Amino acid sequence: MPRNLIDITDLSVEEIDQLIATAEDIIANPVKYQDACAHKQLATLFFEPSTRTRLSFESAMLALGGNTLGFSEASSSSTAKGETVGDTIHTVSCYADIIAMRHPKEGAPFAASQFSEVPIINAGDGGHNHPTQTLTDLLTIHREKGRLNNFTIGFCGDLKFGRTVHSLVNALSRYDRINFVLISPTELKLPRYVKEEALKKKGIPYTQTTDLESVIPQLDILYMTRVQKERFFNEEDYLRLKDSYILTPEKLENAKADLSILHPLPRVNEITVAVDKDPRAAYWRQVKNGKYIRMALILKLLGIQV
Ligand code: NCD
Repeated sequence: MPRNLIDITDLSVEEIDQLIATAEDIIANPVKYQDACAHKQLATLFFEPSTRTRLSFESAMLALGGNTLGFSEASSSSTAKGETVGDTIHTVSCYADIIAMRHPKEGAPFAASQFSEVPIINAGDGGHNHPTQTLTDLLTIHREKGRLNNFTIGFCGDLKFGRTVHSLVNALSRYDRINFVLISPTELKLPRYVKEEALKKKGIPYTQTTDLESVIPQLDILYMTRVQKERFFNEEDYLRLKDSYILTPEKLENAKADLSILHPLPRVNEITVAVDKDPRAAYWRQVKNGKYIRMALILKLLGIQV
C-alpha cells in the first residue's frame, strides 16, 4: 500500500516536525533539492476551483526537477462523461507517481485511495479537511513564532464549513499548551464532531464567542477565514453572514505587537487590503511556505531522501 495523506492525523507529530525541518532546509538550500524528483510525475486532479493549492503543488514538483500533469476542472475530464472517481484515479495512477486531488465531496480522496497504487494527497474535500493547508499553516506558525506550542490562537469566520480550520484544530490539539478561541456567528460554529474529537476528549481549553474585538488583545495568532459561499444551502443566509468579520487596521490597534495574522486565502472582504502593510500580516509569507512544505511532503511520500 502506498503512503497517502488524507487526514492530518495520518502523520505523527514527529513526522510533521520532520517535514517542517525539511521545508526549512529546502528554503535555506534550494539547489540541493533541484533534481530530487527527476523523471517523477505529479498529477493534480482538481474537481473544484483552486489557485494556491494546485499551483503550489505544481511549482513544488517543478522545483524538485519533476513534471506535472492533470486537470483543473472536472468538466475537462471524463467525469463529465459519467466516469467514477475510482476509474479516474485507477487511470491516472497508471501514468503518475503521485496524485494530489481536490473534490467537492467529503471523503472522495479517501475513496480514491482505495483505487490507487500511488500516493494520494487530499488537496481539500468539501467542507471536511485540507491537510496540506494545515502543513502550510504549521510551517508558517513555526517560522513566525519559533514554536508550535504555548500560544493562544483565535479562529475567526466560517468555522463550520472551513475545512482548513478543521484540519488545523486537529493538528494543533496534539501540541502542548495551546488555547483555542473560536470566533464565529452562531450559525457558523465549529462542528460538534471536530470539537469533541480534537478538544473535548483531550480536555483542551477553548472558548467560543461571536465578538472578535473583545478577544483580539489576548491572541498570539489570528487565523481569519472566508465565509464559504459554495457550501451554503441558500444565498440569503450567505448574504446575511458574509461580512460578519472585517479585519481593519483600527481593529488591530488593541492586538499584541507580535500577533501573527494568518489566512489560507482567498480573502473576499474579511481582511482589508490596508492590513497587508502591517508587519503582523503573515498571509503572503504563508503562501510562499505552501510551496516548500509541499516539496517536503512530495519527497516524503515518494520515499526520496536528499
Ligand atoms: C482554502 C480552501 O480551499 O479550503 N483555500 C486554500 O486552499 N488555500 C480556503 C478557502 O477556500 O476559503
